Amino acid sequence: MLRGVLGLRALLGAPRLLSGASSTTLAPREVTIRQLQTSAIHHHDSLFVHRDSPEDNADLVFEFTKDNLKRVDAILAIYPEGHKRAAMIPLLDLAQRQHGWLPISAMHKVAEILHLPKMRVYEVATFYTMFIRKPIGKYHIQVCTTTPCWLQGSDTILQCIKDKLKCEVGQNSPCGTFHLSEVECLGACVNAPMMQVNDDYYEDLKPEDVVEILDALKAGNQPAPGPRNGRFAAEPLGKLTSLTAEPPGPGYKIQKALE
Ligand code: FES
Repeated sequence: MLRGVLGLRALLGAPRLLSGASSTTLAPREVTIRQLQTSAIHHHDSLFVHRDSPEDNADLVFEFTKDNLKRVDAILAIYPEGHKRAAMIPLLDLAQRQHGWLPISAMHKVAEILHLPKMRVYEVATFYTMFIRKPIGKYHIQVCTTTPCWLQGSDTILQCIKDKLKCEVGQNSPCGTFHLSEVECLGACVNAPMMQVNDDYYEDLKPEDVVEILDALKAGNQPAPGPRNGRFAAEPLGKLTSLTAEPPGPGYKIQKALE
C-alpha cells in the first residue's frame, strides 16, 4: 500500500509539459494528496474454508433419509431436463435440515445427485452464509444489527443474548443448545429490533423478551414467534396515521379527454 501511495505521489506531483508551450517549459502541478484509507473488513463469523475434522471429512457417509429421498425427487421434478442443477440450493438446504449443519459429505451427495463436479457445489455452499459449515446447537440465534435494528437497540439485545448464553458471536453456548450469529438485515426492519431462531422471527424485542424466549427454548418449549409488543404484524402501534381515507376509485382526476 505504501509503495502505491508513494508511486501515485511521484506521478501526480511531477512537473508536466504545458500544452502549446515549448518543450522546455514546465509547470508545477498542484495536487492535494489524500490519505488512502481502508475500513475494517467485517468477516462473517464462520470460516468458509474446509478443514478436515473428525466430524467433517469426505470419508464420512451422508445419505438422505427415506422421507427426504422423496423430497429430493419432488424437488428435482420442478426443474426441466438439462436444468437440474438449479435444484442445488434446495437440496443443500434439505441436507442441512436433516443433519443440522452441512458437512462436506452432504455436499458430495448433492453433487452426485446432480451429476456435477464437487467444486460446483463447494462454490455455492461456501458463498451463502445460510449454509452452516460447522456443528451448531439445536437453536441458531441470528441477531440483526443492521441500521434500523441498531437504531432501535440491537446492540443491547445482542449483549443481553451473549450474557444469557455465555458465549460470543460465532460460538455455541457452553450447554451446546444454542449458536449465536450476528447477521445483516433480515427484512423485518419495521419490527426492529429482531432476531431469528431457526425459522422463526421474534420481533419488537426488549431485553426481557429475549430472556423469556431463551428460557422457554431451553426448557424445551416453543415461544410464539412474531412481534412482542402487541402488534399482529407490522401495522402502526395505536391508530392509523396515514391511509386513513377511503382510496379513490379508478379514473380519479383523469383528463376529460380520456374519460
Ligand atoms: S435492519 Fe434488522 S431486519 Fe432490517
